[in-house]
Amino acid sequence: MRGLDSPRNGPKLGWSRVGGISQTRRVFGVLIRIDSVTKRYPDGTVAVDRLSLDIPDRSITVLVGPSGCGKTTTLRMINRMVEPSEGTILIDGVDSRQQSVNTLRRGMGYVIQNAGLFQHRTVVDNIATVPRMLGWSKDKARARARELMERVGLDASFAKRYPYQLSGGQQQRVGVARALAADPPVLLMDEPFSAVDPVVRKGLQDELLRLQAELGKTIVFVTHDIDEAVKLGTMVAVLRTGGRLAQFAPPAELLSDPADAFVEDFLGADRGIRRLSFFSSGGLDLLTAPVVAVDATAEQIACRAASDVPYLLVTGLDGRPLGWSEPGALTAGRVDVGQLLPYGRPFVAGKDSLRAALDCAVLSPTGWAVAVDAEGRAAGVVSQTAIGEAIRGAHAHASAHAASVDPKAATR
Ligand SMILES: Nc1ncnc2c1ncn2[C@@H]1O[C@H](COP(=O)(O)OP(=O)(O)OP(=O)(O)O)[C@@H](O)[C@H]1O
Ligand SMILES: [Mg+2]
Repeated sequence: MRGLDSPRNGPKLGWSRVGGISQTRRVFGVLIRIDSVTKRYPDGTVAVDRLSLDIPDRSITVLVGPSGCGKTTTLRMINRMVEPSEGTILIDGVDSRQQSVNTLRRGMGYVIQNAGLFQHRTVVDNIATVPRMLGWSKDKARARARELMERVGLDASFAKRYPYQLSGGQQQRVGVARALAADPPVLLMDEPFSAVDPVVRKGLQDELLRLQAELGKTIVFVTHDIDEAVKLGTMVAVLRTGGRLAQFAPPAELLSDPADAFVEDFLGADRGIRRLSFFSSGGLDLLTAPVVAVDATAEQIACRAASDVPYLLVTGLDGRPLGWSEPGALTAGRVDVGQLLPYGRPFVAGKDSLRAALDCAVLSPTGWAVAVDAEGRAAGVVSQTAIGEAIRGAHAHASAHAASVDPKAATR
């Protein structure tokens, strides 16, 4: 691993092996094993109670739960900012207590809320902090920092700014870049995006998913927001007050089979709708018969109108949707685009989920959803009824699949 594998900086245990082993290991081997860990603070507070979790490598594991349920304590026990009272944490099979704290932390980037940047250092020097500590030259560390700025979507012109000259979202990006600077195999992230507004937050989440697809880190991500957990997590651990594990499962399973009333309550009222995010719209039967171009002839309109759909979708000459019309209101050669009913927000067939398709249909004045291709050209239309059938089919398929696969395979 870059920055970690030089003989001078090389760890005595663990880390240098992670990259090599991961190459041959099946996807989602266990990298961090939390084995019956309890944390009792000196005042007697039990923050974490006999917690066992197998955190898979090269994926995002989210710890979620109400305030005070022990998420931060758990995260900090992984890099030994907090020492467990009982139990063991194994990193790639090695007891974390057998490694020096410095070695352990060198393999774990840490990102917190509000980024926690050094206010007196420029962006580039904030990001270069760990490489500099590891003995890299200033030039090499800064070059690495600039490379990471690009990776996390920060314009190079920010390099010489100080943190107070950045927005909250930009500061978070610097925090992520700083944590990645020495290319650690593990990233620990404690509510990193909770201080920014929802739009910026969504951007940061998307960016993290993109980065993760590129870099394949083992990320442990703490949040109290279940939507964020479902969006980001490969696995999600729901903790309850007192630091006890309520459920550890992939998000789709959490939504379909909450372990108990606490998890169900925590997931919120619309978990059925949210679960549809995990089903592709690819299987929907799109109808092209009710789609007419704005320059359609009278015969073409008459022919399209013969289909069972009460409305026709009119498209422009470029194939993009313009709006809905009742067939009788269309006159060849004289389509008044201003009179068309809005087609709402289309979904991208095959790329978007059944949830997106359903949302389109619900918002559409005709009750029909418009599907487009990647270029935004109309690919067809689909009714709420057909989407409902596809949803039932997807549920049935998921249940059959769950019955044939051990759902706890990745959770021991
Ligand atoms: N140093 C400490 N001494 C005593 N109790 C502590 C200490 N640190 C945390 N606690 C307690 O341990 C429990 C878990 O705290 P922790 O910070 O891990 O919760 P959390 O899930 O991260 O909460 P939040 O969502 O509010 O950040 C809480 O009851 C907290 O008050
Ligand atoms: Mg916390």
